[in-house]
Amino acid sequence: MQAKLQELQAGALAATAKIDNIKSLEDLRLKYLGKKGELTAILNGLGALSKEERPLIGKLSNEVKAAITAALDQRLTALENQEIQQKLASETIDITLPGRRIPAGRPHILTTTRAEIVEIFSELGYTVADGPELEDDFHNFEALNMPKDHPARDMHDTFYIDDGRVLRTHTSPVQIRLMEKGILPLKAIMPGRVYRCDADVTHSPVFHQVEGLVVGENITFGDLKGTLELFLKRMFGAQRKVRFRNSFFPFTEPSAEVDVECFVCGGKGCALCKNTGWIEILGSGSVDPNVFRAVNIDPEKYTGFAFGLGIERIAMLKYGIKDIRLFYASDLRFLKQF
Ligand code: FA5
Repeated sequence: MQAKLQELQAGALAATAKIDNIKSLEDLRLKYLGKKGELTAILNGLGALSKEERPLIGKLSNEVKAAITAALDQRLTALENQEIQQKLASETIDITLPGRRIPAGRPHILTTTRAEIVEIFSELGYTVADGPELEDDFHNFEALNMPKDHPARDMHDTFYIDDGRVLRTHTSPVQIRLMEKGILPLKAIMPGRVYRCDADVTHSPVFHQVEGLVVGENITFGDLKGTLELFLKRMFGAQRKVRFRNSFFPFTEPSAEVDVECFVCGGKGCALCKNTGWIEILGSGSVDPNVFRAVNIDPEKYTGFAFGLGIERIAMLKYGIKDIRLFYASDLRFLKQF
């Protein structure tokens, strides 16, 4: 029995040393020390031994069990360490490798220009409003002093929708919607998208305007001029040449347009400015009393001024962009410059 135990220990220790993975080690533990294991069988059979043999073999069995357990535990620790080392080696991060760049988006140049315009007027105390892009005839034309047969309707190359509505040709209908609410005095800007059947290097069928409207008592044309001069200085700097030019809009009287010196020819005249030396950026004027009447505001008590800026034109002049179509071409080489 003694020899058998020693043989068993030698066999177990030799087998343990050869094991190279945790799963096989566990199987080996069961083979010797499990419920049906070889050593367990010997321990269970101690009762059948003689009185003299029992303590001797019992002691030896326990020593063998301790030796096998120690060898198994030692091997387990070694295998676990080996596993950790392998994992660390395979997961090593080279912190000197340059990171992968995530392409970052940025606001479109028209969004930035619009935000700049809104910021300037917000600082002057203007609120921001908006209205629908699909408009009815009343708001887009009629209430703006352009009855059905008015020739000024031809100034707008209108997209008509089947049910008599139109894609708004300017942001001025938002003025009407605001005044209909009857809350006076008011001082607001109304940025938005507008549509006209019109296309060349300075005209796009879809473009953006920022409408401005101030209504109160004793508002004069001088207030309009002062406001726009301040805006132009902020937007283009004091050096940039601008001019106010007499004009006509059915919804303002008197009316003026503002031009900024052409950035391509410096005022000499070229294809972009159609040989005028100037690029028009806005229309403006004192609110016509007929417009006040259309929205039940007393023109004897209230006066006001309004203006409509073209966002694309302002961006073209500010950043030297020679063709309005570049804004919509989604060409990243163009867009990334801003
Ligand atoms: C108007 O649309 C008037 N509603 C402006 C106005 C408002 C006048 C309030 C008086 C009081 P006009 O059609 O001129 O006016 O357009 C105003 C500005 O929009 C122009 O100065 C120009 O900068 C821009 N614009 C006009 N048509 C186009 C177009 N097809 N593409 C790009 N910008 C345009």
